[in-house]
Amino acid sequence: MHLFKWHGQLILLNFLMFMSWRPCRGLNVPNYGPDNRGNPARRTASFAGRREPVFYDEEYQPLAARTPSQDVRRAKLAAISNPDFYFPPDPEADLAEANIPVPVVTQQKPRQAAPGAGAFSYNPKDKNGPPNWYRIDERCGGRYQSPILLNTSSAQLVSRKRPLRLDGQTNLPDSIRLQNDGHSAKFTHSWRIGADRPVLRGGPLKTKYLFEQLHFHWGSNSSVGSEHVYDYQRYPMEIHLVFYNGLYDSFQEAREQVDGIAVMGLFYEIYEHSVDEPLNTWTRFLRNVIEPNSEFTIPFIDTFPLYEVIGDVEWPYFSYEGSLTTPPCLETVTWIVATKPLLVTEKEMRQFRRLQSPNGQMSNNFRPVQKLNHRRVFLY
Ligand SMILES: *[C@@H]1O[C@H](CO)[C@@H](O)[C@H](O)[C@H]1NC(C)=O
Ligand SMILES: *[C@@H]1O[C@H](CO)[C@@H](O)[C@H](O)[C@H]1NC(C)=O
Ligand SMILES: [Zn+2]
Repeated sequence: MHLFKWHGQLILLNFLMFMSWRPCRGLNVPNYGPDNRGNPARRTASFAGRREPVFYDEEYQPLAARTPSQDVRRAKLAAISNPDFYFPPDPEADLAEANIPVPVVTQQKPRQAAPGAGAFSYNPKDKNGPPNWYRIDERCGGRYQSPILLNTSSAQLVSRKRPLRLDGQTNLPDSIRLQNDGHSAKFTHSWRIGADRPVLRGGPLKTKYLFEQLHFHWGSNSSVGSEHVYDYQRYPMEIHLVFYNGLYDSFQEAREQVDGIAVMGLFYEIYEHSVDEPLNTWTRFLRNVIEPNSEFTIPFIDTFPLYEVIGDVEWPYFSYEGSLTTPPCLETVTWIVATKPLLVTEKEMRQFRRLQSPNGQMSNNFRPVQKLNHRRVFLY
């Protein structure tokens, strides 16, 4: 079925390219060059001991045996073996593949939570707090949960690596739905045509992963907030960019699959030098969703591309197999956590801390770190 569908699209693609369709694409997309960035200070943020990116031609080889979920995943991928989805050997085919229109996934209504599923809290003393999440969904008690402690010294260094690519970072969405879902502030982009949807590939990922939404975890003050702890440090905030495997038709379908989800996590650190200079202008929309379970649609004229939020994807980053960090805690996530933090001002952090959850101020919405349980953590 998939095979047939994709071949059909290839024929269509050839036709469209023949009709000189490609040069007309993206006329409305502004050019975000290095001098036209949303966050100028990000360019100057330095990372001590940072490695320069290195490109290798060889296929990525795991350094040693990986966790069982990896073997299951590989067997599954081999069984599907849809050649249209794998990285083609020549750049031209790669380019053509990148331009195959991805089916537009219609926006789902806010998920009707199963009884109790939406009722989790972050208060450890609460009956629905993190230690009791396994009662809300037993999968939260699994062995491969997230977040975890990430240590440079104990990570497996990956030397033969494929570049990680985020295509379509500068594409502008049609509109963006901003939701206060009671646990976080979530931005879901709608794409004019399927091909505009950003795609993450390479690095630890075997196939293409399509962008779904982004959201945040933050603290009531700037000494806490991030979910992952990097070299024993918690950052004031962590952004999660959620992608789903293009082998599946939707995020809802993919998240149940062993190779269904990839989440890219980046930390924020406080930019001390200027209190008034806005770095993340998109935080101004948060005031529209102060109340729990409220939402606001950012119209096209005010939309912003992913690039304005996260800038360039850079080495080094950690990768490991883990889970969603909220119930149902599905263990279907390939995590990619960047070590270089983004910048945010205290003023912008206050925009986040003004949001309300059903139990009062929405903050400290991060899950405690989970046991590693013999998983390997890779440093790319
Ligand atoms: C990081 O170090 C802590 C303490 O030594 C350890 O418990 C944890 O498993 C380590 N994390 C990783 C990813 O190796
Ligand atoms: C920051 O928040 C954490 C968690 O609520 C708290 O334990 C800590 O005391 C706070 N620190 C300051 C300086 O207020
Ligand atoms: Zn998250």
